[in-house]
Amino acid sequence: MRRHAAVQALGGLCFCAAIAVGALPVNRSTAQNAGSEAAPIYGITIPAGYREWSLINVAREAGDLDDLRAVLGNAIAVKAFQDGTLPFPDGAIIARLAWKYVPSPENNAVFGRLQSFVTGAPTNIEFMVKDSKKYAKTGGWGFAQFTNGKPDSEALHQTCFGCHQPATGHDLVFTQSAR
Ligand code: HEC
Repeated sequence: MRRHAAVQALGGLCFCAAIAVGALPVNRSTAQNAGSEAAPIYGITIPAGYREWSLINVAREAGDLDDLRAVLGNAIAVKAFQDGTLPFPDGAIIARLAWKYVPSPENNAVFGRLQSFVTGAPTNIEFMVKDSKKYAKTGGWGFAQFTNGKPDSEALHQTCFGCHQPATGHDLVFTQSAR
């Protein structure tokens, strides 16, 4: 059941990604067709093809989030990570995907103990879009979060920039490339 829901949700996201147009404004009917309106404040829609981007790193958050997450980058972001280019160039987009952290009964039956934890239902997806002119007031980054393909609240989007400021030494990006 959970698996079914996850597949459905991912299917929805892929559909959005195929027709949404990155950080560009979309007209209302396109946004409705995509099932993805632009997120508040920064006006970012779900970037096309983000599920096919390269892996930068993975992380696990405990506590209330209790998730597994993957950070992906588009070609411009990946090259900047590889070359250690800071600040990130305009056009770089970083995606953070996350899923609930759940035990796998099937895998654990093989191990004979509680050992295997895998992705459960998707939680939300986040993007950071670099445009040094458009987002000059927030360190050149636009921020967006979507749950089930829909942008989250304006109040939530007010929190992104401030919390990323401690990463100012690497252009507001916490994640480092996995070696
Ligand atoms: C409470 C502080 C906090 C808030 C609020 C926050 N972030 Fe983050 N964000 C982090 C930390 C810390 C990481 C890296 C650690 C991790 O992923 O477990 C991160 C990672 C990310 C990443 C991957 C790139 C990177 O910097 O590592 C993206 C993309 C991202 N956040 C987007 C957002 C967006 C969009 C919002 C607002 C909707 C937001 N964040 C709000 C702390 C925060």
